[in-house]
Amino acid sequence: MRLERGLRWSIYTIVAALFATGVAWWVLDEGPSTARLYLIAAHGLAAMAFLVALGAILVGHVREGWRRRLNRASGTLALTIAGLLILTAFGLYYVCEAWHPLFTSSSASPGRSCLPLTSCSDDAHDCGRRPC
Ligand code: HEM
Repeated sequence: MRLERGLRWSIYTIVAALFATGVAWWVLDEGPSTARLYLIAAHGLAAMAFLVALGAILVGHVREGWRRRLNRASGTLALTIAGLLILTAFGLYYVCEAWHPLFTSSSASPGRSCLPLTSCSDDAHDCGRRPC
């Protein structure tokens, strides 16, 4: 089942933008904070577009493909990866702040990792990532 051309290319573009901005933000760890701020803002914008695109394919493409038993394994894998990325993005906002003491050790802090795919600094919303 092939997606309509416009939607397919929108998804390719959005996923490429998510990947590029996420990796660039990460690689520029010691880089200028303004550049990182724009990168993470672009990443957040792409994430919103991704959720819209995901909704668009869920109602037709995914439901129909599942009903016709097409590509169930790869579809499940793709949705699982998307779900994990969405959950860990949620974690960046709320898990670190709300349950910070549960995920940090008071003495040693290599244990600052909150979830397998996310990490938080001691002040979860630090100024290098977004205006405070
Ligand atoms: C395509 C692969 C992706 C890569 C490589 C990636 C990478 C990253 C990285 C490195 C960060 C910063 C982590 C930190 O602050 O410690 C981040 C933040 C974030 N990601 Fe992703 N990500 C990807 C996909 C997604 C998806 C699919 C979503 C949601 C639809 C998403 C939503 C977010 C959000 C909301 C943030 C927080 C932005 C902020 O701090 O303002 N990402 N991502």
